[in-house]
Amino acid sequence: MSTTFQLDTATSRANPTPQPMKRLTVPAIQRRKVEGVTADPLVMLTAYTARQAQLLDPHCDLLLVGDSLGQVIYGLPSTLPVTLDMMVAHGAAVVRGSYHSVVIVDMPFGSYEASPQAAFTSASRIMAETGAAGVKLEGGVAMAETIAFLTQRGIPVMAHIGLTPQAVNALGGYAARGRSEAEEAKIIADGKAVAQAGAFAVVIEGVVEPIAVALTQALSIPTIGIGASAQCDGQVLVTEDMLGMFERTPRFVKRYGDIAGMISATAAAYAGEVRDRSFPSAEQTYQPKA
Ligand code: KIV
Repeated sequence: MSTTFQLDTATSRANPTPQPMKRLTVPAIQRRKVEGVTADPLVMLTAYTARQAQLLDPHCDLLLVGDSLGQVIYGLPSTLPVTLDMMVAHGAAVVRGSYHSVVIVDMPFGSYEASPQAAFTSASRIMAETGAAGVKLEGGVAMAETIAFLTQRGIPVMAHIGLTPQAVNALGGYAARGRSEAEEAKIIADGKAVAQAGAFAVVIEGVVEPIAVALTQALSIPTIGIGASAQCDGQVLVTEDMLGMFERTPRFVKRYGDIAGMISATAAAYAGEVRDRSFPSAEQTYQPKA
């Protein structure tokens, strides 16, 4: 898949030109799992900005505007302070920057837990103001009624179970889940409940591998793993983690690049040229017409 560009003459920047292709849909994502098997695994990455979405879109099936943007973009200590306004602004930017992937926007903490009606108010705002294809929310059995309420009213829901970062205070940290029999039984029950309630897919985060494998085999909806198992129907990572933007990342992250090193080296090169006055050179300088 290629991206072509149009020159914005006002800013001299290139904007991607939408390709003559249809954006993937939620039903198309769900249909990738046939009789319990996803031959072509689903690729999902987080995206928070239009330019990031442009670059990731050709390689992904789904772009997730995760509430992880709280830590990644805003330097917050957790996802808890993230607001609906933030999710709407970044969700709209990612939809503007993509034309192929299904865009899913996280519902932030406090915007959906109180009641199915509260969840509908928040989710419908996300859908109307961003143009996203669906929302993601954290929780299993406890959120089943809300998931059914939203899906019956035309809002596709991706569920998120296992290690649910918005519940960090109740869980006591970000350690992997499912090491005790009680935790295992809860996560399995959560997965079955969200599928039964109508979620179109479920993110399984930070669980011991056999639970992710068992859920992937048991559920007819796609499972998307993060710190779960290669046997899941798809995978997701926080893009900045995957690019090597941070010095420390969770064990389940594989760094495919060293973007932090690249930014640092590039900024150092710029700083050096500013200080020795070799930038800007004649090439970057305007002169009066002769
Ligand atoms: O907020 C997020 O980025 C997420 C993914 C890590 C699944 O929920």
